[in-house]
Amino acid sequence: VGERVPSISTQHGRDAGIVDLARGDPGRDLLPAALVREAAERATAACDPDLLQYGHEAGDANLRAAIAALLEREGAGTCDPERLFVTAGASLALHLVLTLFVEPGDRVLVDAATYHLALAQFRDHRLWVEAVPGDAGGMHPAALEDALRAGPAALLYLVPAFANPTGVTLAPERQRELVAVAERHGLRIVADEVYRLTGFSDPSSHGTVPPSLAAVSEGHVLGLNSVSKILSPGLRLGWIEGPGRDLERLTGSGVLRSGGGMNPFTGAVVREAIESGALSLHIARLRGQLRERHEALAGALRSELPEADFATASGGYFLWLRLPGVDPAGERARAALRRHGVRVAPGALFAAASTDDTGGGGERERMRLCFAHHHPAALRDGAARLAAAAAELRR
Ligand SMILES: Cc1ncc(COP(=O)(O)O)c(C=O)c1O
Repeated sequence: VGERVPSISTQHGRDAGIVDLARGDPGRDLLPAALVREAAERATAACDPDLLQYGHEAGDANLRAAIAALLEREGAGTCDPERLFVTAGASLALHLVLTLFVEPGDRVLVDAATYHLALAQFRDHRLWVEAVPGDAGGMHPAALEDALRAGPAALLYLVPAFANPTGVTLAPERQRELVAVAERHGLRIVADEVYRLTGFSDPSSHGTVPPSLAAVSEGHVLGLNSVSKILSPGLRLGWIEGPGRDLERLTGSGVLRSGGGMNPFTGAVVREAIESGALSLHIARLRGQLRERHEALAGALRSELPEADFATASGGYFLWLRLPGVDPAGERARAALRRHGVRVAPGALFAAASTDDTGGGGERERMRLCFAHHHPAALRDGAARLAAAAAELRR
């Protein structure tokens, strides 16, 4: 038996010498290993065998109550724990929703630029995806109405708060207008809210939390959320907020009946992190760090790349940048970025075909830059590398 190897493998490796602005995960220094250890110690202190039993299908009632209490404490509004269903993260929640509520070939409507890995899941489920045009405030209600008049859709997928990749948050008025159109057409909305608690515009560190779409329309919206962006993605714990009849379908599904509720052990640990107040303290600290990182990247881009066009973010992990004349997915740009040791996520990744053919193509000069992963000095270095690559491309 050899010595225990201390490191574990993760989804993305670390490349020395490269500033990776493409990845969308929290940096190592934002992952609170000690907080999780202490929560796990408290969760296991009583050696309760039920911790190791198949879990209740909707998730432990105490955990659901704790999640509702967290949302209220964070200024995210009240939520009946009976409207919550615990999942192993938002990605798995989307997988379950697609498995149970849509059929292959169904039409799904999305923003012109949307979370690329939701698009990957729509492909896995053989769905027909169409982008609905929008403006700086998000999807346009009139364009959604046009898309639905043109034909029925099974689902509208939105990232309503601090969106990936655009950073856009739907204002309450826009939320209500979109919901009204969806309700008129009997359209189910999946609102992917994983960045909802990351707002950092308020210097007191208590971010403003946009209203949840699931609260705006209790009957038509399934709100997906998780602790991935506010605690740790490796815990694989999230929840769906939605109407009882939809939750019943989820709890009655074969996978839940066979395997029981999702991640009951991790759920018990997260419950401790919430009830002790440790998660709220962590979120406050995280918001401060995100604000600092956002300022570092936005400031460096403004001075290094004055021609870059982007809106500053007030939450989330991303800036959505347009560099005139640079197609980051093109061969020349890819080579230049490689030479200068910087990675970005090309805008084309996030584009679905558009209902009016203006969506996807217009994003070609866009790129998504993540400010959550690196500390400020690395972000400034990344902006300088991007500027050097852009200068080379213009020569
Ligand atoms: C919009 C959006 N939804 C879902 C996820 C993944 O969430 P989870 O880790 O809870 O599966 C991400 C992660 O990047 C995301 O940006």
